[in-house]
Amino acid sequence: MTDQPSAPTGIDDRLETAVAAAERGGSVALDAFRSALEVETKADGPMDAVTAVDRAVQEHVIEYIGETYPGDAVVGEEDDALKSVPETGIAWVIDPIDGTVNYAKGNRVWMTSVAVCRDGAPLAAANYAPATDDLYVAGDDIARRNGEPATVSEIDDPKAFLVNPVFGVSRPHRRSLMDAVDTVLAEFGDMRRFGCAQAALSGVATGELDAVVSTVELNAWDTAAGVHLIRRAGGCATDVNGERWRPGSQGLIASNGEAHGTLVDALEPGE
Ligand code: IPD
Ligand code: CA
Ligand code: CA
Repeated sequence: MTDQPSAPTGIDDRLETAVAAAERGGSVALDAFRSALEVETKADGPMDAVTAVDRAVQEHVIEYIGETYPGDAVVGEEDDALKSVPETGIAWVIDPIDGTVNYAKGNRVWMTSVAVCRDGAPLAAANYAPATDDLYVAGDDIARRNGEPATVSEIDDPKAFLVNPVFGVSRPHRRSLMDAVDTVLAEFGDMRRFGCAQAALSGVATGELDAVVSTVELNAWDTAAGVHLIRRAGGCATDVNGERWRPGSQGLIASNGEAHGTLVDALEPGE
């Protein structure tokens, strides 16, 4: 099962800006990585973290995009950017630091993520992991990691699948995560939790993981770029019912496509 968009979209005009924005924003974050940082907590408690660097990076990225595309809508995790992707038109979707808890603890798994959506669908993606200097990019062309073609894994045996569940830290998300962990450990090979949704999705696009699963609605900035990378790497991304994923969908089942139906059936809420 694959669900790559087919016709050229014309989005590649913006791809170069997306890549430069992710690299520039990531560099700002890297400058402060492993320095003494004050970590503030948000609505969902101590594991829902933000730092002044998250805000500074988002501001930097938005300013850079605005130099070339001042009229475009901007969705972003911090401050007063839009919080959901508009149904029509172009929208940039930014997570200045995805994996803030990792970042604040000095763990290298975090990314600056920039996606471009049109009419609600992700069409261009740049995920930059500054601490390991890995850059994941996809527009109309195939997905690439550090310039080299990226493809999803070929594993088709669910018992050999490495699956990364992505959930938030609120109480309802934790409860759903417990169910998903049970399912993954009972029916699939093993589990990883990177603590950075975009790193996990980029990992599916490159065969480092076989699937990312969630049964809850995830934020667009945690998902849009990674979903596009997976599609351009030959994989598949649906909602929890197996319908094509788009921002706002319930759940996310993103995989190499080889056992997608098995994942959807297994993760079905209430099962
Ligand atoms: C979080 C990370 C984490 C995921 C959470 C996200 P943040 O993003 O991607 O892996 O489980 O749902 O909120 O807060 O570090 O940008
Ligand atoms: Ca995030
Ligand atoms: Ca973030």
